Amino acid sequence: MTEYLERTFVALKPDAVQRGITGQILHRLERAGMRLVAMKMVTADDELLMKHYSEHVDKDFYEGLKNFMQEGPVIAMVWEGVNAVENIRKLVGSTSPKDARPGTIRGDFAHMGYAHADDKGTAVKNLIHASGEKKEALEEISLWFTESEIQDYTRSDTAHVR
Ligand code: RTP
Ligand code: MG
Repeated sequence: MTEYLERTFVALKPDAVQRGITGQILHRLERAGMRLVAMKMVTADDELLMKHYSEHVDKDFYEGLKNFMQEGPVIAMVWEGVNAVENIRKLVGSTSPKDARPGTIRGDFAHMGYAHADDKGTAVKNLIHASGEKKEALEEISLWFTESEIQDYTRSDTAHVR
């Protein structure tokens, strides 16, 4: 891999699965030239979630976040591309859909802000998770996948996007 070619962990959250918009979200990553190298549907148990969101376990919103993430299955994935961590975060948009720009996944498919989510006693439902930094990406990929679950193939547009 070149210095810029990275892998990142992405999960479509239960709200994206339940709303039936997973295909529309995957399409946005594919059309940006990112290569899907692993994917599975998982119902996250307490231990997996605590490890995944270890930075948030002690926060007030963790209980709501846990309930939200366990409402149903998530689609866990590994994507690869040039500056994939930063580029996919850009496609995802700001954490709160209310503040996410139009054109981003969270800005186009949701609108709820923190205040309304807090009133409802839920985490802000924002459709998708993507690793925030390269170190986090490596940790999250190894938490959710074994090395043998990660596939290799060539996308025919590789010459244009890498
Ligand atoms: P994620 O980790 O899920 O990709 O989201 P993120 O980096 O944009 O945001 P982060 O600060 O890591 O928060 C993780 C998830 O917790 C929920 N959250 N709720 N009610 C609240 O104040 C609150 N704050 C965060 C969101 O679902 C957020 O994506
Ligand atoms: Mg985060």
